[in-house]
Amino acid sequence: MSRRSPKNQDRRSGRHGTDQQVPAAGRTAAMGPAQDGPMRLQRFLARAGVASRRASEELIAAGRVLVNGQPVQKMGVKVDPDHDVVQVDGKVVTVSQEHVALMLHKPAGYVTTMSDPQGRACVADLVPAERFPGLYPVGRLDRDTTGLLLFVTDGGLGNQLLHPSHHVLKRYLAQVRGVPSRHQVHLLRTGVKLEDGMTAPAEVELLDCGPDATLSIGIREGRNRQVRRMCDAVGHECLALHRSSFGPLELGDLPEGEWRLLDEGELDLLRQVAGMEGGTAL
Ligand code: URA
Repeated sequence: MSRRSPKNQDRRSGRHGTDQQVPAAGRTAAMGPAQDGPMRLQRFLARAGVASRRASEELIAAGRVLVNGQPVQKMGVKVDPDHDVVQVDGKVVTVSQEHVALMLHKPAGYVTTMSDPQGRACVADLVPAERFPGLYPVGRLDRDTTGLLLFVTDGGLGNQLLHPSHHVLKRYLAQVRGVPSRHQVHLLRTGVKLEDGMTAPAEVELLDCGPDATLSIGIREGRNRQVRRMCDAVGHECLALHRSSFGPLELGDLPEGEWRLLDEGELDLLRQVAGMEGGTAL
């Protein structure tokens, strides 16, 4: 464990400050293989799913966190998940390094569920669910919606990404019947009345005006069939819907029906938008 390293230290260099050591208690059996090296205590607690970074700082300040048996109340202390033993309210907490996240390019015709009692084709058929136990979809896409569907094994991360307070932007391409007027596009942007209330401001652009139009629609809410219902509300039925991005993730050229694992950088970005890690450099 070490105190905060100089602010301008390059996190990627792998160098870490060492001016306040707490004797390491050795590796515990509960710890997974380390990948990240030393990290700030509040980040460790957030990664362990104990609390957000801010709430973790409060736990630390309140003296509820021990590192290698010693109370730590100052900010900036770093811990090595491979060697330090962290306790919160007397309980050992660990960072699981096993979590994975992946994106699937969902085709039409699959329901968003990991098992379907009715035996319909479901997204579980398309992802490596046995290889990654606990994998589940973050939110849902309608059966006929295509595009980016995110899966995680970390329930804390999944919940935070869906939490309304984080306003994670999801972008869709919506092909609609007919061509919405400027006023209708304005209504979609500012809010339309649905049976479950007004929609929050959305990012809407008219992209293509054939006999039918294509709209780019970015929403920060996640209500059931929201985009389709928004289009209906302005009188333009949604004929096809495709999600092109989820927060910082872009579907890119991933072929339909295929998945790919997210890398550590993408996972960090996701944790940032989920409020699980602050934007400040370590
Ligand atoms: N909005 C919808 O209407 N359907 C989806 O699948 C996703 C967002």
